[in-house]
Amino acid sequence: MSMERRVIKTADGSHTLEIIEMEDTYHSRHGALQESDYVFVGKGLNEKLVTQQQVSILEIGFGTGLNALVTKHAISSTKASVHYTALETSPVHQEEIALLNYTALIPALADFYSEIHRAKWGEEVALDEQFTLLKHQVAIEEFKSEKRFDLVYFDAFGPASQPELWSLELLRKVYELTAPGGIFVTYCAKGQVRRDLTEAGYTVERLPGPPGKRHMLRGVKS
Ligand SMILES: C[S@@+](CC[C@H](N)C(=O)[O-])C[C@H]1O[C@@H](n2cnc3c(N)ncnc32)[C@H](O)[C@@H]1O
Repeated sequence: MSMERRVIKTADGSHTLEIIEMEDTYHSRHGALQESDYVFVGKGLNEKLVTQQQVSILEIGFGTGLNALVTKHAISSTKASVHYTALETSPVHQEEIALLNYTALIPALADFYSEIHRAKWGEEVALDEQFTLLKHQVAIEEFKSEKRFDLVYFDAFGPASQPELWSLELLRKVYELTAPGGIFVTYCAKGQVRRDLTEAGYTVERLPGPPGKRHMLRGVKS
């Protein structure tokens, strides 16, 4: 799979990366920042923060780090803290990161954004009192952890490009990694994914999607 990428501007003015050959993007062409904020923070993190102030997050597909950035942004004015574990197989290069306009859009977090990219793989770093980051350069298929996560940001490429990441077997594994009461969120709303998440054990809701997308999915592990 060729991973040649280029920066594109999405409908809300925020950048994302496009994999030229797959025509896949890291976030929605209808608005990268908007999608990240709506799906992962709005329908995931904010829901968790209703009942707990310390949240452990597992992200599948760290990519540009936009979801981590909006997560930090969301808790900045609160007393909440996050332990953020992110998996990534093909880290985005520093030169690509430098081209993205996220720090221009959220200037207060410019240092934070460069720190999450400078953080070493496989090492837990407390970036500040609120945000601890642990990035693993590993495929979700190979990832092993005793930890159970309060919140899963499932942000792999779509089922059309990476069907193996949306298989029932893989979703069962992610369910295992979810803590009781934990929440799974994804931008995807495919019927088969919805059924497989249910089969894996989640109680699944189809929610209205971010601008430009009709639906998204959220699962809760009871
Ligand atoms: C849709 S993009 C993620 C966007 C990212 N959350 C962001 O904020 O930019 C999907 C990401 O998953 C990564 N990925 C692909 N296969 C993976 C795997 N098997 N395990 C973990 N990550 C994977 C890709 O390299 C890519 O960075």
